[in-house]
Amino acid sequence: MTTDTRPHVRIFDTTMRDGEQSPGASMSHAEKLELAALLEEMGVDIIEAGFPIASNGDFEAVRAIAALVKESVVCGLSRAGPKDIERCAEAVRPAARPRIHTFISTSPIHMKHKLQMEPDRVLEAIHGSVTLARNFTDDVEWSAEDATRTDRDFLRRAVEVAIRAGATTINIPDTVGYSFPDEYGAIFRDLIETVPGADGVIFSAHCHNDLGLAVANSLAAVQGGARQIECAINGLGERAGNAALEEIVMALRVRGDGMRFATGVETTLLSRASKMVSQITGFPVQYNKAIVGKNAFAHESGIHQDGMLKNAQTYEIMRPEDVGQGGTNLVMGKHSGRHAFKDKLRDLGYVLSDNAFQDAFQRFKDLADRKKHVYDDDIIALVDDAAAHVDDAIKVTRLRVVAGTEGPQTAEIDMTVDGAPRWTTARGNGPVDAVFNAISAIVAHEATLELYQVHAVTEGTDAQAEVSVRLKEHGRIAVARSADADTLVASAKAYVGALNRLIAKRSRGADAQESAAG
Ligand code: KIV
Ligand code: ZN
Repeated sequence: MTTDTRPHVRIFDTTMRDGEQSPGASMSHAEKLELAALLEEMGVDIIEAGFPIASNGDFEAVRAIAALVKESVVCGLSRAGPKDIERCAEAVRPAARPRIHTFISTSPIHMKHKLQMEPDRVLEAIHGSVTLARNFTDDVEWSAEDATRTDRDFLRRAVEVAIRAGATTINIPDTVGYSFPDEYGAIFRDLIETVPGADGVIFSAHCHNDLGLAVANSLAAVQGGARQIECAINGLGERAGNAALEEIVMALRVRGDGMRFATGVETTLLSRASKMVSQITGFPVQYNKAIVGKNAFAHESGIHQDGMLKNAQTYEIMRPEDVGQGGTNLVMGKHSGRHAFKDKLRDLGYVLSDNAFQDAFQRFKDLADRKKHVYDDDIIALVDDAAAHVDDAIKVTRLRVVAGTEGPQTAEIDMTVDGAPRWTTARGNGPVDAVFNAISAIVAHEATLELYQVHAVTEGTDAQAEVSVRLKEHGRIAVARSADADTLVASAKAYVGALNRLIAKRSRGADAQESAAG
């Protein structure tokens, strides 16, 4: 058994407090309980469950989470006033490990305009609030709101007062996301070196992402001596959000060579947590979001796919399974090369001859040029369609249709019949009717259309249409299917496919029977 000797960085999740303060991100009581259970399962050290004085709903949620969670510390937020602290204490009371987190602003701009308090009054409030909180629990966190815009000397005094009053965690928030990493790290170094009693408490980082620096700043804080990071799933939080929990945890894990720290978070649950928070809040996760975005392990360019197929480490610095993502996704699109296409065909169970492969690859490229996403089902339809029509006597080579509100709808079609080119134009009662009339004008037959059915192979307005056609002639039945991004092209091909089967049956003199061909 190996023991991890790296210093532990506590992960403090504030998705349900700072995250829920994000406009539009409210969570129901039941959803909060579900999320709290997952956070505990993940090994999050501290769960900030809410702001109990803010509403009865928040109070009840914090209390229920406190009763539910056994391993993680359950924390509630409160301002410096006694009512806030008492309400918070009441809410976290059922917890196995309760924490009261109390805060007050320390920057000149906040003290003057928001609190309208003189600095000395603020120091008194810090002393009073932390002392009161310590009457309820031994685990008290104190935060200097807007710490990064606070006069350094005043910040030192405020931190010292909080420590003397009994705070066990000192949080230095970059409330407005203003700091640079080197500045933020230096604040921690300075406080830890100069404030009496600093060696007996845990320093904590709490970074907002207004300049996109929240994760970088949090890591700089750890280098400066912080041993707790406050963060939220998917980076949820006020304005541009908080540091993203999944990014912090994976940065420390992946770059253990550069920063030798450990967290206790089970990383394979990160994607589940991200999806849960996205579903609960209705905030979509951006496709290129680090760690949990849909594209975080997706590769479309031929060069990258080729590299990935040779060795995943060419373009991936972590394994998708390690963060709970299904696996690497080689997205088939117009940038994909032959290597990836062959690999995809193999995955789908197709082994094609060289000629068939070249043909399928060309058709895939044509489809990818017209369609944003080429899904597995598109490729299956494309290969099956080619295989089904390889021996056909009649083929559609070009189709042009005039449709819309101004009738008559007209189809102009080029075909080959036994290799000879044919062309015609026809009108119809709607575009599909016009297409079928044009085909019938070239290929004489007495079949009646028994079934015409369209369905989308995949999702989206650019999905391929799969069309099924069933024809009946003198008791003989033939069915064919065809897929194409253009519904009318798929219709023409399916109709011609069924005719090809009827012709084959005619020449074989086959009895009336149903042919279910693909
Ligand atoms: O951003 C902030 O300063 C806060 C404190 C209340 C910790 O969220
Ligand atoms: Zn905050």
